[in-house]
Amino acid sequence: MAVNDLSKRMAKVKPSATLALNAKAKQMKQDGVDVINLTAGETDFSTDESIQASATSAMAAGNTRYTPAHGTVQLRQRVQTWFKERWGLLYEMDQLTVTAGVKQGLFNLMLATINPEDEVIIPAPYWVSYPVMVEIAGGKPVILSTKPEEGFRINPQAVKELITPKTRMLILNSPNNPTGAVQTKDDLEAIAKSLEGTNILVVSDEIYSELVYRDKAFVPFASLSADAFRRTVTMNGLSKSHAMTGWRVGFVAADKSIIKALGSLMGQSVSNITSFVQDASITALDLPKGKIEETRLTMQERRDRVLAILTEYEDIKIPTPNGAFYCFPDLSRWYGKKTPKGKTLENSQDLASYLLEDALVAVVPGSAFGEDRCVRLSFATDLETLEKGSHRLLSALSSLT
Ligand SMILES: Cc1ncc(COP(=O)(O)O)c(C=O)c1O
Repeated sequence: MAVNDLSKRMAKVKPSATLALNAKAKQMKQDGVDVINLTAGETDFSTDESIQASATSAMAAGNTRYTPAHGTVQLRQRVQTWFKERWGLLYEMDQLTVTAGVKQGLFNLMLATINPEDEVIIPAPYWVSYPVMVEIAGGKPVILSTKPEEGFRINPQAVKELITPKTRMLILNSPNNPTGAVQTKDDLEAIAKSLEGTNILVVSDEIYSELVYRDKAFVPFASLSADAFRRTVTMNGLSKSHAMTGWRVGFVAADKSIIKALGSLMGQSVSNITSFVQDASITALDLPKGKIEETRLTMQERRDRVLAILTEYEDIKIPTPNGAFYCFPDLSRWYGKKTPKGKTLENSQDLASYLLEDALVAVVPGSAFGEDRCVRLSFATDLETLEKGSHRLLSALSSLT
């Protein structure tokens, strides 16, 4: 054993592919290269001034000490009324906790509920961190493929077929990162029905619930039935809807024994999320509805614009993203083609590297999300950048032979 040997556990921990590409694109930009970065997992808006002011006045008032691990009573009460008023979900106080983003909530949930060899069904394309977190906790990710040609629909029958006596959990993420897919109420209901009589937990990552476009509706999984409510761990937070990614605020709602375990993990690790951020989070939840609606409408306009540009080019298959701020076109028909420099593109990683290095547009290869046919474009940036980026992408594709 060497002094700097890592634990066996670390073999499962890969650096985040999305963060890596974002970092490379940012570095190129810093070096003066005119890169269009379409990899962002956050909006380009600033946190509302009232939220910032709330944090500074909380600091000035001395709210700079440890808080309860679950968060202050005031914040949890506000989260409780938000779940009730915004989503019609009635949670008791001991069914709620706050975490350093949904990410930490998920990580702790895996540690709290997964035993070695437990199976966790994860629909693909998936958010990059789910399989890694499951593996760190000792569980086994069981991937359920969904297809671009079916709009990334999660077929309830396919879920049913993957259930074994070892299935512990199903992770749902609608609206989805990276596809923008929003599952229908009918399909979610059918999934809920097929879980009845089992002890399978559903983790519903609803971080993009405020970003759903046109006539589509967001349905919290826990709202589907009493049985669904009982088995669902609902995850939400302020990162995407309130432009607060750096503040690290997530909400978890679940059965009280699970919440208690999450509190113990929080208490033994981080202690609590930042004290004055908790005051600011109350202000965030108090923001007039119109502010969040402005964000949604801006994103909708951007989505429409990107789709209009990309779909003009009829060869691109692009399932309509009805939520979140990503589109996930299938570009696999360009695999096997040669770049102007003579390199043959084999997969989404090659394509993303070509786009970044030769066309100066950064996207994330679909392989990071378990779907190598696609790449992810984020439309959480201004229209001018999006238009420029989309045209660069199209022109780079048409240069392939
Ligand atoms: C699907 C999904 N879940 C969770 C997160 C993490 O959110 P948070 O900032 O609340 O940790 C992200 C962020 O990109 C995400 O896309």
